[in-house]
Amino acid sequence: MPSTARVYDAILGGRDNFKADREAAGVFARHLPQIGECVRENRHALVRGVRYLVGEAGIDQILDIGCGLPSAPNTHEAAQEIDPGARVVYVDNDPMVLSHGRALLAVDNSTTVVTADARDPEGVLGHPGVRSFLDLERPVAVMIVGMVMQISDHEHPEEIIAALMEPLAPGSHLFLTGWPDTGEPAQRRLSKASMETLGNGWIRPVERLREHFVGLEMVPPGLEYIARWFPGEPDGPVPAVEELEPYQRTQMAGIAKKA
Ligand SMILES: C[S@@+](CC[C@H](N)C(=O)[O-])C[C@H]1O[C@@H](n2cnc3c(N)ncnc32)[C@H](O)[C@@H]1O
Repeated sequence: MPSTARVYDAILGGRDNFKADREAAGVFARHLPQIGECVRENRHALVRGVRYLVGEAGIDQILDIGCGLPSAPNTHEAAQEIDPGARVVYVDNDPMVLSHGRALLAVDNSTTVVTADARDPEGVLGHPGVRSFLDLERPVAVMIVGMVMQISDHEHPEEIIAALMEPLAPGSHLFLTGWPDTGEPAQRRLSKASMETLGNGWIRPVERLREHFVGLEMVPPGLEYIARWFPGEPDGPVPAVEELEPYQRTQMAGIAKKA
């Protein structure tokens, strides 16, 4: 059976995947030929977000939930390039991520990886690996990047996120990417490929995506298509929405701060 983490790895050209995962990656490519660009754009946004969180927001503790298999540059590498003392806890509900993460992090004392499920927010925040590694009395950045589309509406992603953010200190941040539904056919094709192969991959109206940030202050430019999303100061020209290719309208990103 394909798994999300391994299919994502296969699309990125990684080696931690099996035949079923590569076949699933092929289904994605048939529905959306630019799936590789989509995933690479998501990884670039991940790095931009981490650089903003550590470099501009001054965060030195990150909880990266739904981290996936290692793929350079990883969150801890992007964070520690700016602040070598930054601490990162990777969380994924796929145990394979734990074994690969451990191998990667064997020599890193500032980073750890745990197996937990975001749908159990208390279990995540109460996990001994999280408790012993992060000081929850100080601001933490919670990353839910490329993952919320795997949580269905009836599991109430906005409640899960609120429960994750609620116990955290003021100054904590949420960094999230999601799949919008604005009627663009490329969005439908991406969701269809994901549903067919993995049984999840929900697209949502932009207003629903905004609900994931309820109670938090959006950092400019707010929730935006990834190709237009540069938190803080843009480091290049920002394309107009009309200039985006259809595949570039399949993912949005946002960072928000807890007052
Ligand atoms: C598409 S990958 C994204 C990887 C990385 N965050 C990125 O954006 O490049 C999604 C990951 O989320 C994990 N995941 C899915 N549902 C989850 C849940 N309920 N709790 C924790 N992890 C989950 C999957 O196992 C997978 O590794």
